[in-house]
Amino acid sequence: MSRPEIIASWNDRYFGGTLPETFRDSLAELPTERQDVVDFLEHFFKLMHHGRFVSTDVSPMQCTVLGSLLSRILPGAWSGRIPPITVGGRHVLIDEYVLRNKWRDATPGLFLDIGCGFPPVTTLDSVAALQGWQVLAADPSMPAHVVYDAEGNYATFDTQGEMVYFQPAAPTVETWNALAEDATATEANFRRLLDRLLPDLGDGAEVTSDGARLVHPMRLYSSASLSFQTAGIGDVQVQDVDVARCFNVLYYLDATFRRRTMQWFEQVLTEGGLLLIGGDWAHTSEARYSVYQKVDGHLVTREFAFSLDNLCPASIVSWFCLVDDDFETLLLADLVRELRSDAAFLQRLNSVNDRLREQHDFAPRGADGFYSEMDPSLGASEIWGRAGAVASDLNEELAEEAVAVLKAGGHEAWVNDLGHVAVMPTGVASQ
Ligand SMILES: C[S@@+](CC[C@H](N)C(=O)[O-])C[C@H]1O[C@@H](n2cnc3c(N)ncnc32)[C@H](O)[C@@H]1O
Repeated sequence: MSRPEIIASWNDRYFGGTLPETFRDSLAELPTERQDVVDFLEHFFKLMHHGRFVSTDVSPMQCTVLGSLLSRILPGAWSGRIPPITVGGRHVLIDEYVLRNKWRDATPGLFLDIGCGFPPVTTLDSVAALQGWQVLAADPSMPAHVVYDAEGNYATFDTQGEMVYFQPAAPTVETWNALAEDATATEANFRRLLDRLLPDLGDGAEVTSDGARLVHPMRLYSSASLSFQTAGIGDVQVQDVDVARCFNVLYYLDATFRRRTMQWFEQVLTEGGLLLIGGDWAHTSEARYSVYQKVDGHLVTREFAFSLDNLCPASIVSWFCLVDDDFETLLLADLVRELRSDAAFLQRLNSVNDRLREQHDFAPRGADGFYSEMDPSLGASEIWGRAGAVASDLNEELAEEAVAVLKAGGHEAWVNDLGHVAVMPTGVASQ
């Protein structure tokens, strides 16, 4: 099939042919010759369809991200490696959960951030939030060096001096595309900076020159309360973990991998320890996560929880998933479907969401019934700050009503300690 035929087919099968032309135009440059890109989008739209989203629930920002950015952030663009995409403040609520949940008290212990990404900004957030805790950050792709240009964009290099990954200082579609448009030139720029700064680094942790910066992350960030291991799930040398967080990792990997993962977590957690698995974006928006606790030597499920902006997401993280059997993504799709199938609740959701988007000036709905374009003058912190504010207000206003709908549907459901909607999972239907 040609690119226009693929796009037309998604439009027909998943949106009844009602996606506006401008949205379809955003997908016009999609590299459909890449099977990973086509597979990802097929799955993405299928999940939206399962969740009963219609074309007026799709935002121009989503289309732009999917059309021009997605192909650059999938593992297929990084030699098949899962990229260490991350953003500061991403797990702010998850850190709060560690300190305030009904399964384990807040006694400081050992916190494992597995698949921490790099630079380890979310781990550093956790170190600041979890006073008195020991934090171990682990990732199989821990870089030997991180190079920052004068704008704060960065690239990671491995011990062989190979560039592994680059990311803009503040990730938006524009800043990503500015770097990725000519990836070869971007790599050459970062390599030049590395070559220039490396001789001055010596045994040091960081060196700066003309606004550029070279960091040896393990030396720079290691402290009495923070240590690092270059290792992944199953390989990290650790025991007696009180809380393990594995976020934005497992939705790249299949259910067989997850089963092995669960056995390993069962071994390394201490009795009573918690395991948090899920996905989210800045300000813990578009969040979905499972919570397990080790009881009598075995992992028991405590809850599956999600933020209500997944019912009307601004970005693409809700349905970001590289496999068709990721537990949290499928369960989210099922619960979103149930909530969006309740006509009274859907009406409330749309009216509250539309009001909040107006109130926070966050690409509100236009007279044509579709969300408007994001104001191009907004920087990343403004965009994600507003997305986070809408998400937080949605939870506050609608979580109890969502719980009532899910209870009426036979779920054991409640509002959890973060104000998210939680259920006791019983299985997924959308697989
Ligand atoms: C998208 S990043 C997530 C980073 C961070 N946890 C966050 O939420 O911002 C995914 C990370 O998973 C890591 N990863 C890949 N395979 C892994 C494995 N088998 N065990 C642990 N981490 C892995 C990658 O190296 C990458 O840094």
